[in-house]
Amino acid sequence: MTTPSFLQGNTAVIGLQWGDEGKGKIVDFLAEHADVVVRYCGGANAGHSVKIGGKKYATHLLPVGVFRPNVVSIIGNGVVLDPEVLLREIDEFLGHGLPISPANLKVSYKAHVVMPWHKAEDEFREAAAGAGSIGTTKRGIGPTYADKMHRTTAIRVNDLTDEARLKEKIDRILGDRNKVFRALYDAPPLDPRPIFEKYRDYGRRLAAFIDDSTQLLMQAARDRKRVLFEGAHAVLLDVDHGTYPYVTSSNCSGLGLFTGSGVPPQYVQNYIGIVKAYSTRVGGGPFPTEQDNETGQYIRERGNEYGTTTRRPRRCGWFDAMAVKYAVDLCGITQVCITLLDVLSGLDRLQVCTGYKYRGRTLDYFRSDMDTLAEVEPIYESLPGWRGDISNARRFEELPQEAQQYVKRVEQLIGAPVRMVSVGPERTATLIR
Ligand code: IMP
Repeated sequence: MTTPSFLQGNTAVIGLQWGDEGKGKIVDFLAEHADVVVRYCGGANAGHSVKIGGKKYATHLLPVGVFRPNVVSIIGNGVVLDPEVLLREIDEFLGHGLPISPANLKVSYKAHVVMPWHKAEDEFREAAAGAGSIGTTKRGIGPTYADKMHRTTAIRVNDLTDEARLKEKIDRILGDRNKVFRALYDAPPLDPRPIFEKYRDYGRRLAAFIDDSTQLLMQAARDRKRVLFEGAHAVLLDVDHGTYPYVTSSNCSGLGLFTGSGVPPQYVQNYIGIVKAYSTRVGGGPFPTEQDNETGQYIRERGNEYGTTTRRPRRCGWFDAMAVKYAVDLCGITQVCITLLDVLSGLDRLQVCTGYKYRGRTLDYFRSDMDTLAEVEPIYESLPGWRGDISNARRFEELPQEAQQYVKRVEQLIGAPVRMVSVGPERTATLIR
């Protein structure tokens, strides 16, 4: 397939809601036109699923580029890397015949490493917070990013291959952590020796994959390679711009791309926002258009809305055009892909949130602060639904009129052109407009 004209240059794919928008499938689809695919934020809390030739794959750390043998996949410095998960994924995919090797997978030496005490701390903190917990994936993400900022208690990927330094760090940091865990959570101490041996062995296996991803990306620019940035999570989970504190701990909107991979803003020309035709979120936090009722259940079952990482049932609701418009504007989205449109088939009427009522006033913009969001009442516009299976459509014009109308109305409300519509998990079920 020739490169769609809207994809000349380098491209970023960014989730515009609370994650799980189906970015994996779209990155895989677009990777056909890429030489390099880069992950730049988050860690094994992400879960991208891709269906190829009837077979379903889930990745947590490996960029989706690994499904294309000619693509070089990069795990950038902004990622927090759990080596255990990464090596397990590599082994699993090698077992499926995917040729993953140091030639096509590069890991930034600057990425930070998720250690066992980070996962323990995530568990302890969530349990201690009780009803005030964030609902994290317990993959140690927050504590690892916190140590990145603390600096003296951080471990980076390049530390894994320097055994003396790794040992010194583990002994020192864990000595400190054990005291804190004991005092705060009455937890038994973690033993540094087996942890050192395990992570030293991970380092030995990972050594060949470790590289300078920033230099690789600069070289890619000089060689006029096409680079695709694979966003994980989504704008409303961004630690600065999302619905704080119910967010993840990275800058997972498009704005984190530059620091998380080490390229300047001019590097990227296309910002493709991915949105579901409805809304979901996992974990806690306000969700104005949530449908905790039969409609939500209908969407959950048809959309298989259960977490890829934790299998938690996702909270489901109507499309929130205000939230998505905010995400579009914040990230400079140049085109949009609507996913999972087929899930909405069979509903008589569809509601789209076009504004909020807040303390007797109308808000026509999204505020990501939790106090306001928890109080707003959505204003809905009602649109006709459609019946029948639309997953076999291969051109936009083949969709029922009502489905086309829904997409066009969403496009107007969010203020960015919808260039792709996905109606099923297979690569072929992607309609280009
Ligand atoms: P953490 O990233 O594990 O710290 O979790 C913080 C919040 O972000 C929780 O509500 C998670 O459910 C949510 N979260 C993190 N990653 C994803 C994702 O990839 N999709 C959806 N929600 C996510």
